[in-house]
Amino acid sequence: MGSNAGNVDVELRSYAEGDENRIIEFLNLCYGNWGDLEKWSQLYTDQPLFSKSDVTIAEANGQIIGYGGMHGRYLALNGKNLLVQLLGDGAVNPAYRGMRLHSKLLKERFKRAGDKNASLCLGWVLRNSDAYKSDMRVGFVEAKQFPTYIRILNYGSVLRAAIADLLAKNKRLNNSLLSIGYPIYFKTNTTEFPLPNTDENEKEPPQERIVIHLNESAIKEIYNFRSINTMQRMILFANLLLFRKMKVSFPSFKAFLNFLKNSGAIAKSF
Ligand SMILES: CC(C)(COP(=O)(O)OP(=O)(O)OC[C@H]1O[C@@H](n2cnc3c(N)ncnc32)[C@H](O)[C@@H]1OP(=O)(O)O)[C@@H](O)C(=O)NCCC(=O)NCCS
Repeated sequence: MGSNAGNVDVELRSYAEGDENRIIEFLNLCYGNWGDLEKWSQLYTDQPLFSKSDVTIAEANGQIIGYGGMHGRYLALNGKNLLVQLLGDGAVNPAYRGMRLHSKLLKERFKRAGDKNASLCLGWVLRNSDAYKSDMRVGFVEAKQFPTYIRILNYGSVLRAAIADLLAKNKRLNNSLLSIGYPIYFKTNTTEFPLPNTDENEKEPPQERIVIHLNESAIKEIYNFRSINTMQRMILFANLLLFRKMKVSFPSFKAFLNFLKNSGAIAKSF
């Protein structure tokens, strides 16, 4: 099936045997550390209700540029089994983002789910994430959910993992932070670590670095950072700075200017 995302001719097709390695490579590119073939097989082909149409691949010029996975499950309701298609991995190559390709992949997945006589599509995404915006556009409604309760035991390790995940998925933010031209480190009361992809992970922190200090009360306020919208994120950061729960120190005036120069791009990619 041919379609057009932005100005790119995109072919949507089902998974075919032999695609596996390219799929894994693609998912690792989009998610960062997504996993390996064993994980993919367990999630998809090894499942009893799997069919090839559960994996939609978007291709342009022979390259995989988008992926949409589903997982069939039966939901037993009052003695009746409803076929439900759960949305699985959904990803678009960073070079093709912002063209609504994910929405096309979602619509294609609805069509395929309907062809299998599924009654429901269910998905879990963070509110206000990029995926959430696409989901809302194609007609998902937010179901009432049980609240989730979190008690963070190790702030440093949670913060580090969350930042690595955020930057792996948001290449725009990653690139705008890198273009400041100075290594950026996060510091909590107990640990200091660099932004991922700066090649500084194993080294001693360099003298010339920007340090973002977050005290423990700040970390308690940013735990839901991923599920609030851009405006709320800006207000949150302004408050943290105002109440001195977050401090940013620059090694030089030049570093501060570089940061200011890139602040527009950083804010836009939040
Ligand atoms: C989530 C994802 C699939 C969205 O794909 P997409 O085809 O770019 O989706 P859209 O074109 O509808 O854009 C969605 C939002 O992404 C953001 N976006 C737009 N252009 C972007 C770009 N060039 N780079 C990054 N994000 C961009 C915008 O916030 C946009 O929403 P808006 O236009 O309403 O402001 C893609 O960002 C991705 O692969 N992310 C990594 C994997 C992931 O997180 N998957 C979702 C969890 S299952």
